[in-house]
Amino acid sequence: MVSLPAIRAHNASLKSLGPGLVAVFVGGTSGISLSTVLAFARNTISPRIYLIGRNRSAADAAIASVKNINPSAEPAFLQSDISLLKNVDRLCCGIAAKERKLNLLFMTPGYMTLKGRDETTEGLDRKFVLHYYARMRFVANLLPLLTAAAQDPSIDTKARLSRVVSVLDPHVAVRLGGSGKLDFSDLSLKHTFSLNKCGAHASLMGDYFLEGLAKRNPHTSFVHAYPSGVATNLFRELPAGRVLAAVLTPLLKPFMVPIEESGERHLFAATSEKFPSKVEGEGMKGSWRSQRRDERGVVVTGSIGMGRYSQRIRNWKVQGIRARWRR
Ligand SMILES: NC(=O)c1ccc[n+]([C@@H]2O[C@H](COP(=O)([O-])OP(=O)(O)OC[C@H]3O[C@@H](n4cnc5c(N)ncnc54)[C@H](OP(=O)(O)O)[C@@H]3O)[C@@H](O)[C@H]2O)c1
Repeated sequence: MVSLPAIRAHNASLKSLGPGLVAVFVGGTSGISLSTVLAFARNTISPRIYLIGRNRSAADAAIASVKNINPSAEPAFLQSDISLLKNVDRLCCGIAAKERKLNLLFMTPGYMTLKGRDETTEGLDRKFVLHYYARMRFVANLLPLLTAAAQDPSIDTKARLSRVVSVLDPHVAVRLGGSGKLDFSDLSLKHTFSLNKCGAHASLMGDYFLEGLAKRNPHTSFVHAYPSGVATNLFRELPAGRVLAAVLTPLLKPFMVPIEESGERHLFAATSEKFPSKVEGEGMKGSWRSQRRDERGVVVTGSIGMGRYSQRIRNWKVQGIRARWRR
């Protein structure tokens, strides 16, 4: 795992990418995405930042923080409920009308629930949409802008950034004790929905989707990140979610990733040359510990030049203790 000082040194070097980076943070009003927004604003020159969510007062506070950290930044809030894909399409059209390139698409929308299938007017489960369908729709719609950023002739090749980061859980199926297989007879889980299956399908289908895009879009790189435990608003939709968070957070705090560190580590995942696009990675040696299970449940290890990576973010202090314990 990369040390926190090395992460900070890398992030501090992002100013060398030049002014005017454009980033879209889906779920940017709270939690992991918001902490990454703040790290991004702190380390870049005149960035244009789009925050997508529903909560206007949270967005206003986020925009004030960004302006305070970096007066040259241009943050904007796009308010929408993205559990409807027609709203995702509308947002993407609006962004495409304003921007000629997109350097970073960072996505964290989601929530915890104990509810069963909760169907939207478009016939999909709401949680499944936030964890999979909406995210992939954003990527597909915004790919022309990401490609334009990857091929921007006004920028030196080494300073070009074109990346997609989806924060969820690359190994959720395995963690839940499942084989990691998809139910091909009911991919949208219309008939066989359970929260476990929804977690596994969203994670695996997201992996396959990004992997396919990485092959067909060799100038953009794609990262699926697992954030470990971070104290955020994730419990808000659980019954007594606030009480649960107030009780659990102090107990779990020593094992959690502090929110600011989470932002710095996710910014690293969003910008580091350790995750090159297929084209940038060609010729680079070495394999990357990017394991996933294929359709048959077999573990597949990724390599540097594939353009699609899994990244697990851990608490740096806990990692240090673990490493000393193993020695
Ligand atoms: N935190 C953890 O420990 C943890 C661990 C493992 C995985 N994860 C995953 O990481 C991701 C980010 O989690 P987080 O902890 O940062 O959560 P969070 O603080 O609850 O943030 C979720 C974001 O999603 C947005 N959102 C939710 N529903 C939306 C909707 N219908 N339309 C538009 N935006 C919506 C929220 O914005 P508004 O409120 O403004 O709508 C908020 O900005 C989630 O997918 C979660 O499953 C988190």
